[in-house]
Amino acid sequence: MDTSTPESPPPALLAAALAARARAHAPYSQFAVGAALMDEQGRIHAGCNVENAAYPEGLCAEAVALGQLVLAGGTRITAVLVAADAATPITPCGGCRQKLREFAGGGAVPVWSADLRRVLARHTLAELLPASFGPDQLGPR
Ligand code: THU
Repeated sequence: MDTSTPESPPPALLAAALAARARAHAPYSQFAVGAALMDEQGRIHAGCNVENAAYPEGLCAEAVALGQLVLAGGTRITAVLVAADAATPITPCGGCRQKLREFAGGGAVPVWSADLRRVLARHTLAELLPASFGPDQLGPR
């Protein structure tokens, strides 16, 4: 059940992001990240960052979580949580904002930022990616 309020995400979302973060493969940046997404059925899909020796080819935690969501048959994101051991709230990188937007419908989806213990910030995807380009803009006029 989704027990989140406007001020707090479902506790399971933070737990899933932290569990995923513990699996991060980040030997180059040493910056482990976990992400958790809730889908339209209330299911949670998580991912960690997966780096490789060709540095720019690494995968962000959000992208890995998105793959999990799609593979499980999810079609829409209703909440996002990103967790890292950082003093300032970690928000998705620019590329991940666009990836998330594909499945976010309108921009009201909350994007929570957490450290290893608690949630530090909340944005909406529209705040993070204003005037975004999305699937509705493809196709004939
Ligand atoms: N990273 C993520 O996985 N998600 C974010 O939201 C920010 C950055 C990863 C990419 C790279 O593996 C490491 O963090 C350092 O940038």
